[in-house]
Amino acid sequence: MRVRKAVLPVAGLGTRVLPATKAIPKEMMPVVDRPAIQYVVDEALEAGIEHIVFVTGRNKGAIEDYFDRAYELETTLQNKGKDGVLAELQERLMVPGAASFVRQQAPLGLGHAIWCARDIVGDEPFAVLLPDVIVKAAPSCLAQMVTAYDRVGGNVVAVDPVPEARVSSYGVIAPAGRDGRVIEMTGMVEKPPRDSAPSNLAITGRYILQPEIFRLLADQATGAGGEIQLTDAMARLMQVQPFHAYEFEGRPYDCGSKAGYFEAVLAHALDHEEIGSEARAMIAAALG
Ligand code: G1P
Repeated sequence: MRVRKAVLPVAGLGTRVLPATKAIPKEMMPVVDRPAIQYVVDEALEAGIEHIVFVTGRNKGAIEDYFDRAYELETTLQNKGKDGVLAELQERLMVPGAASFVRQQAPLGLGHAIWCARDIVGDEPFAVLLPDVIVKAAPSCLAQMVTAYDRVGGNVVAVDPVPEARVSSYGVIAPAGRDGRVIEMTGMVEKPPRDSAPSNLAITGRYILQPEIFRLLADQATGAGGEIQLTDAMARLMQVQPFHAYEFEGRPYDCGSKAGYFEAVLAHALDHEEIGSEARAMIAAALG
């Protein structure tokens, strides 16, 4: 069955980028001219996703407002004849009814956040996109994964090689063999110590999962960091269902960290059709 729904967990507190995130959700931090979450939603839509489930928490109301109409703003723009920016706002509106919002009431971990979406996802395969990670790729990272999924089925996680010193920050897979970008695996582990990591292939925050994951998440014991980990439930699902990793073509930016966020802004500014050449000149001047 086609992957129609995507779950975006947006309940996290953004402690790694405080104080910027004290009064706004980290997902709303701008990357050049749009909030980080917009890039992730665009990636999902490009992959054919028709419905997005946001798993939110307290103080995340700005995300819901962002994906709604802004009548006063639109009317004012119209009255002032600012047709270009008005058209841009309206282009980005989601189809009515194509977004759902559900709250994770306590920060019990990524696995618990995904489990909170179970009733809305129902009994069908679905994607998960962690909005901390923006992936610059064409076609989009999830679109590449959907193409691979159409061939191999089951469950698919995106992976990207990271320096060995950083494996303990990620979920890491144990690869077995590969066919192009599709990788067979024998296991996966959340935040392994560097010396016992099964590889340097880190799970990059993009997943295509079968609905059976929800039953496993329901009774998943806490793991790394004392949290209910998605990786632990996936490792169990792997015992009974096909599971592949997919090494996507593209560049991920971890906007959940200060340096990663800066790098994302830099990369998107340099490539931006309106300000790209100006940004390049500014950087050359700053270095010069
Ligand atoms: C989460 C996942 C981890 C994954 C990472 C990608 O960790 O648990 O498996 O590798 O996202 O960014 P977090 O960054 O929330 O600690």
